[in-house]
Amino acid sequence: MSTTFQLDTATSRANPTPAPMKRLTIPAIRQRKVGGVTADPVVMLTAYTARQAQLLDAHCDLLLVGDSLGQVIYGLPSSVPVTLDMMAAHGAAVVRGSYHAAVVVDMPFGAYEASPQQAFASAARLLKETGCAAVKLEGGAVMAETVAFLTARGIPVMGHVGLTPQAVNVLGGYNARGRSDAEAAKIVADAVALDEAGAFAVVVEGVVEPIAIAVTQAIQCPTIGIGASAQCDGQVLVTEDMLGMFERVPRFVKRYEAIAETISGAAERYAAEVRARQFPGLEQTYQPK
Ligand code: KIV
Repeated sequence: MSTTFQLDTATSRANPTPAPMKRLTIPAIRQRKVGGVTADPVVMLTAYTARQAQLLDAHCDLLLVGDSLGQVIYGLPSSVPVTLDMMAAHGAAVVRGSYHAAVVVDMPFGAYEASPQQAFASAARLLKETGCAAVKLEGGAVMAETVAFLTARGIPVMGHVGLTPQAVNVLGGYNARGRSDAEAAKIVADAVALDEAGAFAVVVEGVVEPIAIAVTQAIQCPTIGIGASAQCDGQVLVTEDMLGMFERVPRFVKRYEAIAETISGAAERYAAEVRARQFPGLEQTYQPK
C-alpha cells in the first residue's frame, strides 16, 4: 500500500462529497523529477473498469485508461477503431473506482490529430465526462503545438513516443523502434519537443534501451517506460499482460500472475458441477422455512 495515502474528510465548495483519500495531482507527478533525477519512480498500470481500478488504485501513482482496451476488452485488431465514446465510458468507470491515483485517459485515433482545436474539444469532453486529471496522446514534434495549446487551456497532457500503436498502419507492425541512428535521433527530438511544449510526462514505448536512457536524460519531465529501460523515471504495463491473461507474452512483459489459467480452471470446474447437477448445492439454494 502506498505511503502517500491520507485521510481527507474535509468538505469545501469544490469538494462537497469528500473522498476518503487525497488523490495524487499531475503537478505532484511532474515534480517527482528534480534536476533530471526521479528518486521515487512513477508507477502506472492500465485500468478499464471500476472494479479493476479499485484493486490497482492503492498501488499506483497513475491509472491509464489506455486505448489498448480496443484489443483487451473489445477484441479489436488494433487501437485504430477505438472511439471517444468508448474512452469516455471506461474513463468514467475508472475514476469512479479510484480515490488515490491520478487517472489519465488516452485520446483515441482520429480524435485529436487534425488540429489543436479538435484536440481541445475531445480532451475537454473526456475531462468533463470522466473526471480524469489528464489525457495522453501519441506522436512527437508534430503534436507539440497541440500539447502547448491544451496545457495553456488547463488540460495536462502525457506524451507518447517510440512505438506508437495508433500509427501501426504507417509503421507496419509493433517492432521495437530506434535501431537506426536516424530513427533514434528522431525519437529523442520528439520527446524533447513534447517536454518543451509542456507535457507533464512522456511514455517511451518499444525502443532499444540506450534510446530510452537518452530520452530520460534529455527531458525535464518524467519518462514512463514500456519495453524501454528500468532507468526510465517510471514504468507502465497493460494490467492484463502482467496478470497473464494472454498466452502470447511479448519480451517486455513480465507475468506476475497466471490469471488465464485461474479463470479457465474455475469455468471448467463450474461446468462439470452444472453437468453433474452438483451446483447449486444446499448452501446456494433457498429452502422453505
Ligand atoms: O493504450 C495503452 O495501454 C498504452 C500503454 C501501453 C502505454 O498506451
